[in-house]
Amino acid sequence: MRHLISVADLERTDIERILDRAESFAEVGRRDIKKVPTLRGRTIVSLFLEASTRTSSSFELAAKRLSADVVSIRSSGSSADKGESLQDMVATLSAYDPAAFIVRSPEVGAASLVTRWTEASVINAGDGKHEHPSQALLDLFALRRRMGSIEGASVWFVGDVLHSRVARSGIQAFTKLGAKVTVCGPPTLIPRGIEALGCSVSHTLEGSEKADVIYALRLQRERMGEAFLPSLREYAARYQIDSRSLGPRQLLMHPGPVNRGVELASDVIDDPRSLIAEQVASGVYVRMAILYELLSGSGPRRESGEATTTTDIARHPEIGQPA
Ligand code: CP
Repeated sequence: MRHLISVADLERTDIERILDRAESFAEVGRRDIKKVPTLRGRTIVSLFLEASTRTSSSFELAAKRLSADVVSIRSSGSSADKGESLQDMVATLSAYDPAAFIVRSPEVGAASLVTRWTEASVINAGDGKHEHPSQALLDLFALRRRMGSIEGASVWFVGDVLHSRVARSGIQAFTKLGAKVTVCGPPTLIPRGIEALGCSVSHTLEGSEKADVIYALRLQRERMGEAFLPSLREYAARYQIDSRSLGPRQLLMHPGPVNRGVELASDVIDDPRSLIAEQVASGVYVRMAILYELLSGSGPRRESGEATTTTDIARHPEIGQPA
């Protein structure tokens, strides 16, 4: 695999391999020294042209824990402010001979376009409302750890599905691992034809009490140029999840950041049934596994005898030594 642009490009076996490898990196993460030398000498460019806290920080940490050099560019304060195009930025940053570009953009298809302009691997860290594949993989990882298996699980994505790249990637990823997915929200926030991704649609929470997982989505007010809702109060009254609406054995997920008091009541965020903190922690291990998947086999800089495969990681405790 050279790029990670869409969950549609992944087979179930690809997903399971990445999740299993992330478990190996989680084991490395429990050591005092959390770094491995896998990407020593490689450069990774993190190019975020849209706001991010979790994805940007966890990709940066993942790359550093694999011993890569990281160049982090944000739209604010970079030459994007002066009108430099994405293509010109990629050409400029390619002068550093990067192994990978991690790209977030408000534009659908941006990461895919970048693959045409560079020899490096490209990871889609969110392109408009299209896809966010690394989020889907970390969600699967966090849920698989809690449930043991995702096969047969019932997962409800609730809220602003229309603007959600998390939902578009998540529906595909969860169904590939055997879950049954329902999307739920007001008709104005459910895209027409979403069933083609393999989910069913509900406009009320009726029936969600039987779900294993409620995956609440952020109301993306920054992408709402027109009135999609009569009022936030009315939306919250119909779709907000709180500690009483969640069943005793149901699990709650949310990609963050949360609009407290809108899609989630504050009381449920730190509830033991909430996986939100586990999702964030999982991001580092899964993104290490993604970088490993794309880059470990292609690099010219592997030194003889250096442990780089998952099996090697399991067998060789010395890779926890300083890189
Ligand atoms: N879940 C997610 O993509 O969060 P950030 O926007 O903070 O990266």
